[in-house]
Amino acid sequence: MSESVIDIVAAPDHLGIPRWHAVTSPGSVAGVADLRPVMPFEYELPPQTAPQPGTLELNLYVQPQWRRRGIGSRLLAAVGAHAVGQRLIVETAPDSAAQSFCERHGFRRTGSGSHDLLSYCDVHHAWLGELVDVEHPGYRLRHWTGDPCGATSVEQLLRHPSGPGAAVVSAAEADGGVAAYVVAMTGALPQVRARQYGPAVLVGDRGQRLGLWVNAALLTRLREIHPHVEEIETRTADGDSDLVALRRHLGFRPLGRRLRYELTLP
Ligand SMILES: CC(C)(COP(=O)(O)OP(=O)(O)OC[C@H]1O[C@@H](n2cnc3c(N)ncnc32)[C@H](O)[C@@H]1OP(=O)(O)O)[C@@H](O)C(=O)NCCC(=O)NCCS
Repeated sequence: MSESVIDIVAAPDHLGIPRWHAVTSPGSVAGVADLRPVMPFEYELPPQTAPQPGTLELNLYVQPQWRRRGIGSRLLAAVGAHAVGQRLIVETAPDSAAQSFCERHGFRRTGSGSHDLLSYCDVHHAWLGELVDVEHPGYRLRHWTGDPCGATSVEQLLRHPSGPGAAVVSAAEADGGVAAYVVAMTGALPQVRARQYGPAVLVGDRGQRLGLWVNAALLTRLREIHPHVEEIETRTADGDSDLVALRRHLGFRPLGRRLRYELTLP
């Protein structure tokens, strides 16, 4: 089929996540793009790498047999028309088609790290339970589920009642507010895989294993709420040795390198 008859069609999902399909014939999709909000992690990341509020994560995928025909570029153009003036983040493997694609389209490289994966089948649930049960005097665990719907901080999310949705948050609260938190997002493809952001621990609350506590709590909670989730992926920025150690301790395995690219749309 000629590229000229491929249509780029807006196909937002049931949660309102903006999504576009490259449709080759009725019911046949050659490529997909979607945009998801990035949770801000001001406690975890140095300011120069922390995503700005309103930053969107771009997921772009073209079926292998349809690549190098301009479909990815057309999907990106549809994204650009929708998200005027916003900042996009993309994660790619080094020396990949996606890296060449990003550089061709003017994305700027802003960081690197490892792509890590944890499979529930590798985790002892009783051990997780023991981690969750450890007392942390002065702190209490809180959980939240729902859809972020434009919230720019975990504090904002926790002010809303929990409900059905793609996000699961576990937080350690003290009298002064949230001290540590970690977020998982479900609903990406493949459905059995969730994506984790954090844990992030407030500077003044570090050194008390709160990150491990909230992460163990999240792993337990996520499986209760979304039993179809079998694995969790995350990215660990280079140089963050504490986070690397925590994730290895919990059983996250490195899958490969990841480069982060950003583009501010005109
Ligand atoms: C990255 C991806 C979406 C590109 O889709 P695509 O439809 O093949 O992209 P386009 O045809 O629009 O390519 C535009 C330009 O990107 C560059 N590019 C794309 N694939 C490339 C490759 N394999 N090698 C070198 N350059 C490449 C080229 O400059 C290309 O222009 P050209 O064909 O005129 O030389 C696709 O390879 C893919 O789905 N990869 C797996 C998913 C992924 O890694 N996504 C990460 C998010 S970007």
